[in-house]
Amino acid sequence: MVKKVILDVDTGSDDAVALMTAVLHEGVELVAACSVAGNKDIEKTTENTLRVMEALNADVPVYRGCAEPMVKFLCQNRIPLPEYKPIMVDGKLLEMHSDYLDIPASTRKPEALSAPMFYLDYLRNATEPVTIIAVGPLTNLAVALTMDPDVFKHNVEEIVIMGGGVTITNASPSAEFNIWYDPEAAEKVVQCGAKITFVPLDATHRAVITKDDCVTFRELGTFAGDFAADLCEQRIAMHSATQPLYIPDSAAVHDALAVSYVIDPSVLKDVRHVCLHVGLGDFGEGQTIVDPRYFTGEKNCWFAFDGDRFRFVEILCEAFRKK
Ligand code: RIB
Ligand code: CA
Repeated sequence: MVKKVILDVDTGSDDAVALMTAVLHEGVELVAACSVAGNKDIEKTTENTLRVMEALNADVPVYRGCAEPMVKFLCQNRIPLPEYKPIMVDGKLLEMHSDYLDIPASTRKPEALSAPMFYLDYLRNATEPVTIIAVGPLTNLAVALTMDPDVFKHNVEEIVIMGGGVTITNASPSAEFNIWYDPEAAEKVVQCGAKITFVPLDATHRAVITKDDCVTFRELGTFAGDFAADLCEQRIAMHSATQPLYIPDSAAVHDALAVSYVIDPSVLKDVRHVCLHVGLGDFGEGQTIVDPRYFTGEKNCWFAFDGDRFRFVEILCEAFRKK
């Protein structure tokens, strides 16, 4: 049974790989993409999402979403200050996410409806369940919840969140970027009552993509294979310079693993039913706190602690061989 999915993205490099996987793999039907600010501002994340759709000639509507977190930026001491120094290799600036994807500018426009309003409208009128795959900050989903606290209780099979980390973080000593960028939004979503599965850094840093996998993508002889290889090689260079993984010259391609889980759940390993809440201040801001006690609070989500990199690459090749 082909699953209907909605992708909520802050299109950057791994979001682009996720979008291509969702458009091309026969295991899912991408009914819409919603942009949100995160990796880049809302103009850039929306344009990059439109560029991927146009490059694939995909008839998928794009809904522009929230331009900033729900409340975080109201607090001057919580506004993130980029601390990393530019990294130059062979005279070239290394970036995990370029401002704009290196594919033609889009000639398409986003839909008139905003992303939060799209969620309300689509879910109230859906005739089949849909899986929401959120691979950016959760602001759009939280704003929709603020407008209708029951919005995800109907017609939503599952909310899959690329975010969080227990043994691994990347935005701060305690937090992963998507959750850290809008912690209040993330806490609202984990309380929303839908089935929630986290695809956190604990899993994405195990199911890594290597340089040899990029060769495999290029051997497919397709646009998607070549573009995915470009994006993954960009990420490998950045990981090697700033966050080396257990396999040298490899990268986490976080968002595409979240889509791959919806296509084949066996790609995630050691998935546990847990009680998870989000740190909302000070040193623990944006931390995904998984309750380790035997008598925990109510278990409100599933959390993957490992991933299968070989099955991950197979799923990506199943998609990218198409176009
Ligand atoms: O921490 C990784 C996540 O933050 C990914 O979704 C990446 O695209 C960024 O949004
Ligand atoms: Ca993302």
